[in-house]
Amino acid sequence: MAKKQRILVLNGPNLNLLGKRQPEIYGRLTLEQIGKKIRALAKELGVEVEIWQSNSEGELVGWIQEAPKAFGAIVINPAAYTHSSVAIRDAITAAGIPAVEVHLSNIYRREEFRKHSYIAGAAVGQISGFGVQSYLLGLRAAVEQL
Ligand code: DQA
Repeated sequence: MAKKQRILVLNGPNLNLLGKRQPEIYGRLTLEQIGKKIRALAKELGVEVEIWQSNSEGELVGWIQEAPKAFGAIVINPAAYTHSSVAIRDAITAAGIPAVEVHLSNIYRREEFRKHSYIAGAAVGQISGFGVQSYLLGLRAAVEQL
């Protein structure tokens, strides 16, 4: 499939724990189960997806740097790095392909420190608070950007 029709879905730290991590906030689906829903929608929309997770900021930066070689857009849940990482923001800007920021929880209804996203200024837009639907809406938004 042409790289334009391929979307990279990136997940930041602790998202490997989904399902057992604060289910009252993040829901009961594991990242694997969320991935299945993303893949099903991707099939429907006629795009290919790769879904990767890392607990390391440097690894995420490396993947974003390489992304334009193989992907037309990025959907990213930067998790805690949302609120701390200038490096991930700069990598997205440098990559130059559209990125959609997604969050399972509504980051504006939680602690003060979660209300600021370093990533938002580099993303096309942000979807926050819809649980697994945030990823699915994010994928639809990313496909529109291809
Ligand atoms: C999150 C929100 C972040 O504040 C938090 O650090 C996460 C998950 C979300 O998907 O709601 O790890 O990105």
